[in-house]
Amino acid sequence: MPSFQTTPGTRDILPPVASRWRAFVDVFAVVVERAGYEQIVLPMFEDLGVFQRLGDATDVVTKEMYDFVDKGGRHVALRPEQTAGVCRAFVQHHPNVPWKVWYAGPNFRYEKAQQGRYRQFDQVGIEVLGVDDPLLDVEVISLAHGFYRDLGLRNVELHVNSLGDTGDRARYAAALAAYLRSHEVELSEESRATLARNPLRVLDSKRAEDREVVAQAPSIAEFFSPAAGAHFAAVQEGLALLGIDFVVNDRLVRGLDYYRSTTFEFVSTALDAAQTAVGGGGRYDGLVEDLGGEPTPGIGFAIGVDRTLLACDAESVFPALDGAADVFVVDTTGGRTALRLSAQLRGAGLRAERAYGAKSMKSQMKTANKSRAVVAVIIGDDELARGVATVRPMNGGEQSEYPLEAVVATVVDIVKKAK
Ligand code: HAM
Repeated sequence: MPSFQTTPGTRDILPPVASRWRAFVDVFAVVVERAGYEQIVLPMFEDLGVFQRLGDATDVVTKEMYDFVDKGGRHVALRPEQTAGVCRAFVQHHPNVPWKVWYAGPNFRYEKAQQGRYRQFDQVGIEVLGVDDPLLDVEVISLAHGFYRDLGLRNVELHVNSLGDTGDRARYAAALAAYLRSHEVELSEESRATLARNPLRVLDSKRAEDREVVAQAPSIAEFFSPAAGAHFAAVQEGLALLGIDFVVNDRLVRGLDYYRSTTFEFVSTALDAAQTAVGGGGRYDGLVEDLGGEPTPGIGFAIGVDRTLLACDAESVFPALDGAADVFVVDTTGGRTALRLSAQLRGAGLRAERAYGAKSMKSQMKTANKSRAVVAVIIGDDELARGVATVRPMNGGEQSEYPLEAVVATVVDIVKKAK
């Protein structure tokens, strides 16, 4: 007999956590819609070429892509993130700039599954296309910062860096590679392999053997063009203007190759797991062009829903929603009255629950208690014969009988007063 479980790196999001997720997205939508972002919903799979723009040498492209050839012979991939899809959509639909969009939904990366790192994980995020202004960078960062605050998180650190212009980044990568090669013997085996593919990523290494070499490595700041330096200075001034604390971290390179200029990451200091980055983003000024569009500046961020909720757990904030019912209908006469009354109560906007099957009064009252309803409506044979129902406040208040036609209005009134 087959018995199936979720595959590694995927999870069932069960109640009540699933409604907590929805509430999370709702809070995010409020924050970003106030700032003029509109929702976009992208396909979950696209032509593989769209995602290859994330960088030939990145783990996301070389190791983690869920790609396959479909029945029509197209080489497609499940999206590992949504920035590239937004840029593809921008090139396809020619919207007016600035184009400010937000999104929420799952992404797929074939990563080693562990606490806070999944193969299917959710993100919420924003992207702005068509504006090259350091004060926009500040605004984008401030929206993520404000969102963490709205969730109640206090232990989230903001790290910022700049990767300079395209030329700066290339010159830095060459200088860094030369430096790292000259210290290759001191590096861990993993970092030696990374060095061959993507020297910048060696800076991400958290391995003890690499720490010394990484600490002494040249800084990207030495390679900034005057324009890139001025842009980054303006971003820092803007953050200070808004009173947002940040750390300049010149080792922050991020895992995707499209980044230029401003990059940032939010790190939870409340999480002691290996995965502490709860969100990140930056500028990707060459990406639209890379996908066949006109040169168009872009910036955005994505916040990991799974990981940010782990941070919420660690800080005991943003609890799961209270799933209490407003009213519970108990009917020992066969259930037809409960069917009709619950529909009417729901129609009046209440969360109405009931028991099913011919259960005894005792068993139905037990379920009513578990539902944490404010009030129970009870219909037995005697009540039904007289065309009434008993309305019983569940906090121990006095119960009374009402004609069936008056029950909905009475219950609405009691629930309103109780809330
Ligand atoms: P990213 O840093 O790859 O950036 O992902 C952003 C966030 O998604 C991470 O900080 C983390 O919280 C979460 N995340 C990533 N991978 C996983 C995983 N396997 N399991 C759980 N959570 C994960 C991007 O995706 C860029 N598209 C962000 C961006 C938008 N840059 C510009 N615009």
